[in-house]
Amino acid sequence: MNSRHSSEGPGRLEFPLSDHYLSADEIRSGLKSRFWREIVCCRSVSSTNDIGLSLPMDDIRENTGIAIIADCQEKGRGRFDRTWFSPPGLNLYLSIVLRPGIPPSDAPFLTILAALAAAAALTREAGIQVSIKWPNDLLMAGKKLGGILTEARTVQGIITRAVIGIGINLNSRTDDLPPEISGKATSVLIETGSTSSRERIASGIMNEFEARYKKLLATGIFPLVRELRPLLSCLGREVLVTDGASRISGLAEDIDDKGRLVLLLPSGLRKKINSGEITETGDR
Ligand code: BTN
Repeated sequence: MNSRHSSEGPGRLEFPLSDHYLSADEIRSGLKSRFWREIVCCRSVSSTNDIGLSLPMDDIRENTGIAIIADCQEKGRGRFDRTWFSPPGLNLYLSIVLRPGIPPSDAPFLTILAALAAAAALTREAGIQVSIKWPNDLLMAGKKLGGILTEARTVQGIITRAVIGIGINLNSRTDDLPPEISGKATSVLIETGSTSSRERIASGIMNEFEARYKKLLATGIFPLVRELRPLLSCLGREVLVTDGASRISGLAEDIDDKGRLVLLLPSGLRKKINSGEITETGDR
């Protein structure tokens, strides 16, 4: 792994210095606070989430965050063991590492938080409106612009390490996309004709994330649920929710005060769903 990190922040992580592909100093200059203890910019990694999961526990402290950003990923991972398309020089691959001290049942809150932070940063920095396909996809023009992969380690019923991976297609052109995703994926460049600075989008997301993370720890998920509701693409639509072998269809009626999807089943019963993948099957 080739990597580079900023010289600021107490207790520097041990990463070999090398390249100029991404600038940690530029990212830091866009940040609003010193919440971010380390910003590690890497050239090529297996997956930024893998780096986050392998950091020594001593480096992961409460009330601070670590950001790991790579120019490209050799084994970028999506949910359900899918590959995340991660070519060099174009897009954002960012993992945020935290010690949130929350129970594992609250881990989905971190995914919601990251999706909201990314949507807000894209609006602020790139001037685009993004919708969220519950629970973790960022959509533009009905196509996938980005996704979130949250992974956590728990000790005695508390999350001691959360790694929240955020992938956003920024500067890929249609021709750059592999055929298997070209029909359903998009990028900021494809939608707007404008290129985006990865550093600027990264610091924008980190600022938005930090503000919401502090709110989550102080007041709980409710304010984030309120922010999420109008951004959801699926509410009022017939959907199929797949989670492993389980498949369940219904009307996506709402999200509850814990961010769970409330599905109105054909039987008239309501079911609250914690995780899964949505396919929209009908109109509003
Ligand atoms: C999904 O939509 O399935 C989630 C995609 C998450 C991709 C990001 S890119 C940064 C981080 N590193 C990874 O290997 N995956 C996440």
